[in-house]
Amino acid sequence: MPAQKIIIDTDPGQDDAVAILLALASPEDVEVLGLTAVAGNVPLDLTAKNARIICELAGKVDVPVYAGCDRPLGRDLVTAEHVHGKTGLDGPDLPDPTMPLADGHAVDFIIDTLRSEPAGTVTLCPLGPLTNIATALQNAPDIAERVQQIVLMGGAYFEVGNITPAAEFNIYVDPEAADIVFKSGIEIVVMPLDVTHKALVTQSRNDAFRNLGTPAGIAVAQMTDFFERFDKEKYGSSGAPLHDPCVTAYLIKPELFSGRHINVEIETGSTLTLGMTVADWWRVTDRPANALFIGDLDADGFFDLLTERLARL
Ligand code: RIB
Ligand code: CA
Repeated sequence: MPAQKIIIDTDPGQDDAVAILLALASPEDVEVLGLTAVAGNVPLDLTAKNARIICELAGKVDVPVYAGCDRPLGRDLVTAEHVHGKTGLDGPDLPDPTMPLADGHAVDFIIDTLRSEPAGTVTLCPLGPLTNIATALQNAPDIAERVQQIVLMGGAYFEVGNITPAAEFNIYVDPEAADIVFKSGIEIVVMPLDVTHKALVTQSRNDAFRNLGTPAGIAVAQMTDFFERFDKEKYGSSGAPLHDPCVTAYLIKPELFSGRHINVEIETGSTLTLGMTVADWWRVTDRPANALFIGDLDADGFFDLLTERLARL
């Protein structure tokens, strides 16, 4: 089967970094057409810088990185330096990028790519707030039917929220954008906290990254050392949840994951539950299914894949 063509939309973020490294290490499975940076974990100037740092760490400086939207569609930006540090990639000491940003806006790259590639051959992989994706759909409604599928990290149901009691960060930052995406009619696979909180980087798993002894393996271990302190303190968990790599791992080995095709809608009106993904897991409504909502994974298989692929870099 030919490698899947993908665009990774991202707000690096240590877990975004691992997701991107996994994709760049798997050319037989995914062809990364480009990275599009969006404001999220940290402001746009940093996410656009961090995306290039990651490409250079992987030795893949030919992958174009575009800067996208620097704020949500209709709200002030909320960032997460408390989780990711002030740079967004705290942990390893990685050099500033030398590769330039690609010319043009990320939204135009998404639109142009979808219009130029054969319909149904490009998958969008959002790992942050959905502002770039929603803006592309607003500016060019014709692209919706040309997207093969959207595989995104965001939302929560049984795990409830991580930035508010009701909402997961990526959706909460730009709920209006999420609403546009979830109503687009595009086939969507959702990696919510329900599954990502089962992808925990335990000490032995992080040691396996570090013991690769490569710049990428050591950097990932150092990112996790930093990133995990917040979640271990908050949840008492045995390690950091690797949220975003669930997206790229799904593209490579979907059999590692399981979920239900259900209706998911986004709360955009209530301040109390703003950004909540209202997932009809028990199918108690007649609202049409619009997303494959993933609830479980083979965690050992996930980390075996991740470690094996990181070893290639
Ligand atoms: O809630 C977790 C998500 O928010 C991850 O994508 C993380 O990188 C942040 O963007
Ligand atoms: Ca992210």
